[in-house]
Amino acid sequence: MDESSVTIREVMLRDGLQNIRQFIPTEVKIELFRLIVASGLKDIEITSFVSPGAVPQFRDAPQLAQAILKENPEGAKISALIPNLKGAQNALKSGVRRLSFVMSVSESHNFNNVRRTTAESVEALKKIQDLKKDYPDMILKVGMAVVFGCPFEGKIRPQVTLRFIRQFYHLGCRNISLADTVGFGNPKEVREVSRLCVNEFPDVTFGIHLHNTRGLGLANAFTAYESGIHILDGSIGGLGGCPFAPGASGNTSTEDLVFMFEDMGVRTGVNMDALLKVSRYFKSVKRDVCFTSSILEAGIPIPRGTLTTPSPPLLGP
Ligand code: COA
Ligand code: ZN
Repeated sequence: MDESSVTIREVMLRDGLQNIRQFIPTEVKIELFRLIVASGLKDIEITSFVSPGAVPQFRDAPQLAQAILKENPEGAKISALIPNLKGAQNALKSGVRRLSFVMSVSESHNFNNVRRTTAESVEALKKIQDLKKDYPDMILKVGMAVVFGCPFEGKIRPQVTLRFIRQFYHLGCRNISLADTVGFGNPKEVREVSRLCVNEFPDVTFGIHLHNTRGLGLANAFTAYESGIHILDGSIGGLGGCPFAPGASGNTSTEDLVFMFEDMGVRTGVNMDALLKVSRYFKSVKRDVCFTSSILEAGIPIPRGTLTTPSPPLLGP
């Protein structure tokens, strides 16, 4: 990837919808997917293959995945979150080949989220990697939760994250995402962790997943970009949050990320007008939805043009 572009990975259908208590009908999710694709977003997390008891919002994961994979005209990269081996098996059976395995770098959040110790999650990861024998086209990514702070344990030392990454690397993982699940991170920490990761593992593709809980989402996104991470998760309307992390709130909004990068001349491949249709449609079917996106609130500056127009001198020489 060249320096002047980024990939925005859209997670509204997963992170966004998991934090909305009511079940969103499958047909609405499919229509959201269509509008997301039409905006130019090409990397889309569509659901979670988790226990329907834990997250009933995704009880339609197999049907949704099958419907979306059938009509994926633009060849978008379709991924789904999985918490364990069963989730991986169900996702693969439904045709999904890009799996985002979630585990936390703190014991307490891992236990709250997936009811396992981190050692048990690593064991599950090994078994999931083994599925490559039956599904050679499987692409497994590890999404590392609470890298920049845990709601139960506080700040996490970068060395803890690196130790896990070394284990994942050893198991053959080359796709890793660093998540600020509850919005604890600041740009200095994002720079430190991103640089440590990118420098030690040049052949790993790193992404970052940021929440704007305390208003630092964009600052952290820009810092990650400057530190060599060019895959950034975003959620339309800033929807999102982990139901198993107290105080969690929305992701960095895709609209704000697109605006920031495009305005800096960094290509995202996303058409803003088409992107705005996604939140408009969702609002029309779910009137009480609450977006947190500066672009949705303020709009795009019009007219754009140059920032300053040279004015003639007030007084002659
Ligand atoms: N998909 C569907 N069902 C699953 C499943 C999966 N990935 N994993 C387990 N189950 C089912 C089991 O088959 C079992 O069903 P049964 O009671 O009918 O026999 C039941 O769930 C309990 O299984 P168990 O392995 O004991 O799971 P658990 O109760 O320890 O819960 C998780 C572990 C990971 C399944 C659950 O905590 C979970 O789904 N968490 C979701 C986390 C999440 O999405 N967080 C937000 C994103 S970061
Ligand atoms: Zn998240």
